[in-house]
Amino acid sequence: MENKAPLAWSEKYRVGHQRIDDNRKLIFEIRGLANKATSDGRSSEMVQQILSNLMDFSQRHFPDEEEFMQSIGFPDLKNHRESHLLLLQKTEDFIEQLRLGYSVTIHDVLGFLEEWIYSHLLDEDMKIMEFSELKTR
Ligand SMILES: [Fe+2]
Repeated sequence: MENKAPLAWSEKYRVGHQRIDDNRKLIFEIRGLANKATSDGRSSEMVQQILSNLMDFSQRHFPDEEEFMQSIGFPDLKNHRESHLLLLQKTEDFIEQLRLGYSVTIHDVLGFLEEWIYSHLLDEDMKIMEFSELKTR
């Protein structure tokens, strides 16, 4: 898979809320963990842990970000919330596959994280920032 997502967090990815941005950076840490697991040859034992980190992250961070969007009157909240639900659902699906004994590889998880960063964090989340900047201008 082509790697379209940048490797590290940059301040230009901020949406302009300290706690939310601190949390959004964690996605890069989770991906770092997945990359490290690959290079350490510990990928199969780490998949479960990485998915569980991702689940904790989403359950904490999504409601927080949604509350922020609501507080600034972000007009596309409904679609953004749906996109969070899809990410959560996909994470749950991976966890369920593992529970049922199907294989989920670190590459599946890395591909998912790449897509998450590229399509959500750097695209959909940035619309929050664009809107809040317009509003305060
Ligand atoms: Fe988001």
